[in-house]
Amino acid sequence: MTARLQVFADLEALNDSLAQRWRVVAKAAISERGGFHVALAGGNTPRKLYQRLTEPDFRESFPWSETHIYFGDERCVAQDHVDSNYHMARESLLSHVPVPESQVHAMFDPIFSPDENAERYAKLLKQKLARDVSGQPVFDLILLGMGDDGHTASLFPDTELLQETTKLVGANYVQKLQAWRISLTFPVINAARHVVLQVAGAGKAEMMAAIAGQQTTACPVQRVKPQGQLDWYLDRAAARLLPADFPP
Ligand code: 6PG
Repeated sequence: MTARLQVFADLEALNDSLAQRWRVVAKAAISERGGFHVALAGGNTPRKLYQRLTEPDFRESFPWSETHIYFGDERCVAQDHVDSNYHMARESLLSHVPVPESQVHAMFDPIFSPDENAERYAKLLKQKLARDVSGQPVFDLILLGMGDDGHTASLFPDTELLQETTKLVGANYVQKLQAWRISLTFPVINAARHVVLQVAGAGKAEMMAAIAGQQTTACPVQRVKPQGQLDWYLDRAAARLLPADFPP
């Protein structure tokens, strides 16, 4: 793994740079393997990045027809529910760019249980993704966020799915939210060619400092160690308390 940190004045500058990186990674994946397989993050932070990708300079220059969209995690709600990550991505990105519908893979269907959804998604990943030398399905890019408790995707502190070492996707009951989630697991996250951690806002500064200073070694996001490239994209507010030597 090689890790790199970039800090930007604000979220707009961060998203401009991240959108360009996204396009570079996509074009390389397509020229090398014929397709770009990317897992989107949920929550609020990526919304403006997705909207940025719909603006003419990216919408016209991005290889949408060879792009395959997946999700890093999902809330167990209907796809048109306001809390759905699929709904957010549909509204902010997917309804505005020409990704073929057959190449957009929602993670949760309410007709199945959380466990059944996780099994179905893992099967889909095994069918669609290239494999690494160990046979692990490999994403070209996984976009992740980080909560102020250090969770990423739906891998929350003190939840069972953190311990998963073989399944690619799992259902995770999150006590603090009193809700079920579906999430990629560390095995598939860490098999990725590129992982981007997009962290923005003053509310994340304390956790970033705790991670950088190793005051905590137990938070989920510290276990994101992809075999490929790990890029931290932060705005100045989230990086406010970081030492100069982060990432190690
Ligand atoms: C989710 C996300 C989650 C998110 C973090 C940060 O489904 O909520 O995947 O992991 O990335 O909670 O969320 P914000 O970007 O809203 O701070």
